[in-house]
Amino acid sequence: MSPRETSLESELDNASSARASFSETLEIVRRQVDRQLGLWLEPRLAAAAGVSAEVLAAAQAIEGLALRGGKRMRAALIAAAFDACSAEPTTDAAGSSWASALPAMVAIELLQVYLLIHDDWMDDDDVRRGGPAVHIMLRERLGDVRLGDAAAILAGDLASGYAQSALLECPVSADRLLRAAQAFARIQEDVVTGQLAEMSAVRAAQPPSVELIHSLKTASYTVTGPLALGAVLAGADDARVAEFGRFGRPLGIAFQLRDDLLGVFGDPTATGKPIWNDIRQGKRTALVTELRGSAEAEALLARVLGNPDAPSSEIEAVVRLMETSGARARVEARVQELLDETRQVLASMNLRPSLGRRVLQGAISALGERAS
Ligand code: IPE
Ligand code: IPE
Ligand code: MG
Ligand code: MG
Repeated sequence: MSPRETSLESELDNASSARASFSETLEIVRRQVDRQLGLWLEPRLAAAAGVSAEVLAAAQAIEGLALRGGKRMRAALIAAAFDACSAEPTTDAAGSSWASALPAMVAIELLQVYLLIHDDWMDDDDVRRGGPAVHIMLRERLGDVRLGDAAAILAGDLASGYAQSALLECPVSADRLLRAAQAFARIQEDVVTGQLAEMSAVRAAQPPSVELIHSLKTASYTVTGPLALGAVLAGADDARVAEFGRFGRPLGIAFQLRDDLLGVFGDPTATGKPIWNDIRQGKRTALVTELRGSAEAEALLARVLGNPDAPSSEIEAVVRLMETSGARARVEARVQELLDETRQVLASMNLRPSLGRRVLQGAISALGERAS
């Protein structure tokens, strides 16, 4: 075998062992976070029951969404960064080295619950994680659309409060906890800014670029923020956190580009979310940006984009044109470019060999090439 073939083979070996490390760790994290989330919410539900039936309904809706699936990729990234940055990782009874970061892993998933509740109401999406969105559950439970929607917004706020409380339970020094709280606040500033920017881009004459919006609304709380949390909880310095920012931004943008692709070409039974709603709601996704330009595309988009009453045949025509015009292929190619950039940053980071580093490497294809 030539030296080139040998090095290619070891690269492939590394890639498949990194993928295995990511999926094994994700499985462990999922079990730990699901269990911990259930335990953590129990006394909150009891307290809610002591106030009123409506407060209990909101708390139960939070619990329902929190425990109904969820890939837990954000929690896994916290665990990976914590492990990769720990000076001497110590293993707990469950065999994992990130026990001190577990409350932050629960916190990021509660933050996700808050964001998803508000997002589904804003995006008018009825289905999340394969079940009814929280505003749909609460409309039904409270027997009134306005009341149900108001309760859903408040349930989101409540989940946000839960997330702050959970984060502060990390058993680390006050200095590390302060830096984690700062990182958590920064995540929220970015994600809410991104959600606002995306919402206004539907009508703006000169909207911010799709990738700036994706970076703010998704990369922030999905990749860069979780990595920053894991890193600071393990005592990493600001230079390391900045490196994680350079690693996480392209990966987070790729994650959202994949989401946009799945929202048009994905399988709703795998994603647990509806398809084609981005088109009905007029979202300026990368697919739409790539489609623009030809007279045919402009005429079609003018009729269909943002028209909730557009017939399925017209939406199908948009989807076909996304394929035949090469828009889908260009977005796929951009995802690969971003994943390559992420790989290069990781290679330059000089992280010591560890489970965390392998998980980060495996996370690149897992997040960028996911089907659910
Ligand atoms: C959904 O995130 C929201 C986006 C940023 C695209 P996930 O795809 O991670 O959703 P869950 O947590 O697994 O349900
Ligand atoms: C969700 O963005 C990002 C959040 C800040 C919650 P999208 O609206 O694109 O994600 P989905 O497709 O509803 O999960
Ligand atoms: Mg949405
Ligand atoms: Mg949205």
